[in-house]
Amino acid sequence: MKTYLVTGGAGFIGSNFIHYMLKKHQDIRIINVDKLTYAGNLENLKGCENNENYEFVHADICDLAAVKEIFSKNEIDYVVNFAAESHVDRSIREPEVFVKTNVAGTVNLLNVAKDFWTIGEDEYRAGCKFLQISTDEVYGSLGQTGYFMETTPLCPHSPYSASKAGADMLVLAYFDTYKFPVNITRCSNNYGPYQFPEKLIPLMINNALNQKSLPVYGDGLNIRDWLYVEDHCKAVDMVIRDGKIGEVYNIGGHNERTNIDIVKTILAYIKELTGSLVDETLITYVKDRKGHDRRYGIAPDKIRKDLGWTPETTFDVGIKKTIKWYLENEGWVKNITNGQYKEYYQKMYGDR
Ligand code: NAD
Ligand code: TYD
Repeated sequence: MKTYLVTGGAGFIGSNFIHYMLKKHQDIRIINVDKLTYAGNLENLKGCENNENYEFVHADICDLAAVKEIFSKNEIDYVVNFAAESHVDRSIREPEVFVKTNVAGTVNLLNVAKDFWTIGEDEYRAGCKFLQISTDEVYGSLGQTGYFMETTPLCPHSPYSASKAGADMLVLAYFDTYKFPVNITRCSNNYGPYQFPEKLIPLMINNALNQKSLPVYGDGLNIRDWLYVEDHCKAVDMVIRDGKIGEVYNIGGHNERTNIDIVKTILAYIKELTGSLVDETLITYVKDRKGHDRRYGIAPDKIRKDLGWTPETTFDVGIKKTIKWYLENEGWVKNITNGQYKEYYQKMYGDR
């Protein structure tokens, strides 16, 4: 039975990953270590608590003693590091916390895993692996043509993407220097259930359902390559099992869209699904984000050729599923915007 240490498993992608893995594999154990920042929510893991193969540990990945204790109590086979500060807008206001968690937290995990997995000089217990969950944002911004490849030089622009790039360089340095068994995945923008309503898609769904204005940055023509979160989880599972040590894999949805197109699609589907009277008059163009990357696009050719992964969920199917989830889980969103996280949410996002 393999034991996975999943960090940040109470956040959006991490919680989807834990649900996906526990459903798919009966012969694994998952230890979820999460600091429960504003973005971490144990409600995301409803249904997992009673699974005997799942355990939650409330800890910070920067806390050396806490991470050591997890490794000394459990024989960890895989580290899957989702834990991060993940929101670009927040990184523009508070860069320091991004460096702390995303860079120093990753190094802390690398060091402890390396200590516990070492069996000789540059030799590690067979089958162990450290998977760093990164982002396509480390590559910077594209012009109208071309795609990010694994060989594209890193050129991050925001404090968020710069901190993720720093972590990636360290992970690769541990492979180059110590032959430490690592993989990195760099995915495009995810969407789906349990995403905190500060990111474009859940923010727009939530605002539209509440007849609030829909703040579109700049001209609305920035492009992102949207990936349904379950397709991402499947790719991560494949990389852990079959990814070649030391390699980077890009994961993208083959689904580039402008932000304004996303917002209009959400409005149209909300109308279709609920019969409500929302319309495009809710759209409000607002001041652009500082240093706003224009276009992200991934060619996921390597992961398709080497591991046989392709995105399976079309945007039409994925966005309808996502809107339905937010409609059926209004209490979940209310708990964030009006309940436990109200103060934080108000401070950061005001009336947005
Ligand atoms: P999220 O913000 O929803 O969740 C992050 C989780 O990490 C939360 O549960 C939070 O409590 C936890 N966390 C934060 N700091 C921590 C610390 N110091 N110690 C322990 N736990 C801590 O993020 P997400 O959208 O689920 O993203 C997960 C990963 O995927 C991140 O590494 C992010 O960079 C990457 N990623 C996300 C996207 C996306 O579209 N969401 C795209 C590309 C890459
Ligand atoms: P976001 O979900 O923050 O992801 P990222 O910046 O990591 O790609 O934003 C996605 C795109 O949507 C990005 O171009 C910024 C834009 N955006 C808006 O136009 N309005 C908003 O309120 C938000 C949160 C994002």
